[in-house]
Amino acid sequence: DRKLLLVDVDCGVDDAQALMVALVAPHVEILGITCCHGNSTLENVCRNVLRVLKICNKLQIPVFRGASRPLLGKSLHASCYHGVDGLGDVPDSTAPDLDLLQKEHAVLAMMRIVNEYPGQVSLVATGPLTNLALAVNMDATFPQKIKNLFIMGGNMESRGNITVCGEFNFACDPEAAYVVLNSFDCPTHIATWEFTCRNDLPWDFYHDWISQKTEKAEFMRRITSHSVQYTKSCAEEKEAWAKGFVTCDSYAVAAAIDDKFVTDSISCAVGVELSGTLTRGMMVLDTLGMLERKHKVFVMTKCDTEKLKFLLMEALR
Ligand code: BDR
Repeated sequence: DRKLLLVDVDCGVDDAQALMVALVAPHVEILGITCCHGNSTLENVCRNVLRVLKICNKLQIPVFRGASRPLLGKSLHASCYHGVDGLGDVPDSTAPDLDLLQKEHAVLAMMRIVNEYPGQVSLVATGPLTNLALAVNMDATFPQKIKNLFIMGGNMESRGNITVCGEFNFACDPEAAYVVLNSFDCPTHIATWEFTCRNDLPWDFYHDWISQKTEKAEFMRRITSHSVQYTKSCAEEKEAWAKGFVTCDSYAVAAAIDDKFVTDSISCAVGVELSGTLTRGMMVLDTLGMLERKHKVFVMTKCDTEKLKFLLMEALR
């Protein structure tokens, strides 16, 4: 059972981890990687994707430049965690040239690719949902052509990480999250911030993982050094952070490539707050069915972390 994936990223450190998991997964074909503003500027995101593909020997996968800012307002970046360049600010004189990017815009590429494989492509989104929202706004039938949608973003208990109640990806472009969650009616699986923190991995695993004697492990060791330090300091100070190693975006990819990865979820409609002064960008679970929306999403609650460890190990082998 071959899985066809389109992966939309704002390539920071955990997007890189998620991509590396997807790149080695058997029975998975990545039809394209689309880039979006988010963890860093769009240019940095594009460069980071090419760096990841280079280290994985997969530069033949097409990479597309997408939205450089949200539907409304200015971009937010997460340099405190990912570094200014999005990959931990470690020098890389061998970074591939941006000339390697496709000339076609990411949103047009997404629309074209799903038309080539109607109903067969699963979309994994690990950044702000701007590219997806633009695709929906340009072609209202776009969501109907998607097989499954996997999102890392939002929250389930109003815990934020960039604002009091805003998870980074949703808070970066709340309107885009709103458009996407109100238009897609394919099976939609969401890995929220709290879910990823609750299913964190032991630091011992992280050390074994990056200590493998491979070029990919060395790359991972370098690009994660900054974010690991940051996570540890946050975990000491802030209740909202996990105590262990969290690779948020990898949970969305793991769910997309392995149907048994998620072991429990809440099925309900969800909303995104657009106008609250404290809550803009917050995802709200409609567990009582009050929003009277037909489309229910799967909000992940439990997963098989042993599987995730295995996938991550394979990714750096
Ligand atoms: C999400 O925000 C980003 O900084 C990470 O890459 C992840 O997608 C976690 O809230």
